[in-house]
Amino acid sequence: MTLEAEGVLSLRLERIESNDPLPVWEPGAHIDVYVPDGSTRQYSLCGDPSDLTHYQIAVLREPEGRGGSRYVHDELRVGQRLLVTRPKQSFALEDAPFHALVAGGVGITPIMTFAEHLDREGRPFTLTYGGRSRGTMAFRTRLGALGDRATFLAEDTDGRPDLDEVVKALPDNGLVYVCGPLPLLRAVQAAAERVHGPDQDIVRFELFSSAGVDRPEPVPLDGDNYELVLARSGHTLRMRPDANILETVLALGIEVENDCRDGICGSCVTPVLSGTVDHQDLVLTKREQAAMDKMMICCSKPTCERLELDL
Ligand code: FES
Repeated sequence: MTLEAEGVLSLRLERIESNDPLPVWEPGAHIDVYVPDGSTRQYSLCGDPSDLTHYQIAVLREPEGRGGSRYVHDELRVGQRLLVTRPKQSFALEDAPFHALVAGGVGITPIMTFAEHLDREGRPFTLTYGGRSRGTMAFRTRLGALGDRATFLAEDTDGRPDLDEVVKALPDNGLVYVCGPLPLLRAVQAAAERVHGPDQDIVRFELFSSAGVDRPEPVPLDGDNYELVLARSGHTLRMRPDANILETVLALGIEVENDCRDGICGSCVTPVLSGTVDHQDLVLTKREQAAMDKMMICCSKPTCERLELDL
């Protein structure tokens, strides 16, 4: 355990049962950590993906949180056992001629792995990293290796980042990646819209919680039910518009990966074979949503009388 900044502890996690390498992961991946009440918390891996002798995560103490960070900070100690899942990937780097990376607070963890990956590959990027004060900003020494591509802004002395400038610096087809508190995500999206227009699709983000997120108004379905066809397993069901597709499918004994059940993790993504969807997730890009070829079945619903899924 290392205190990386005020309220931020990083953990080095090693395998207990063998010396085999840990499962591989790509920048942006996270693991689920089980806490004593049996629930899980998601933490981005923030070590070096080429070193599979251990994983590294960083945990911000959140006094108002659900208790996971208090457990890590106050009870977990070096040498104790922690149960974690394999790495999962819902936030990943897409190919682009330029990446503008923006992090707020502990949101630096996945963003740092993107920055270091782009640095290793010799690809152009900028990193804008903001925090409340210097003392709360973890990994500044490590990120110093990125030289002048990284900008550190402590709000109490430097103010907030000029996100319009960050977004303006993007060439055609460049992408912005952001991870941090919801107001930062909103500010980046607003800057992208001001600079590149309302139809831009250049912002990629990761949220750890959907608290405070405005979702689009659900599109009401005509009629009191629709037909759900699960093509691979051969089920055809009549569904009420408000019934949860993921829960229905799991009750049939069909295995579907799922995690947040809230449209933010991407693990329940399911191919759509036919039909149209009212997307309520916060994972797919606008273009992916418009393509109507996949959906998060934990939260999204059809807008048609017959929805066929590849399940
Ligand atoms: S379970 Fe997380 S997006 Fe559906």
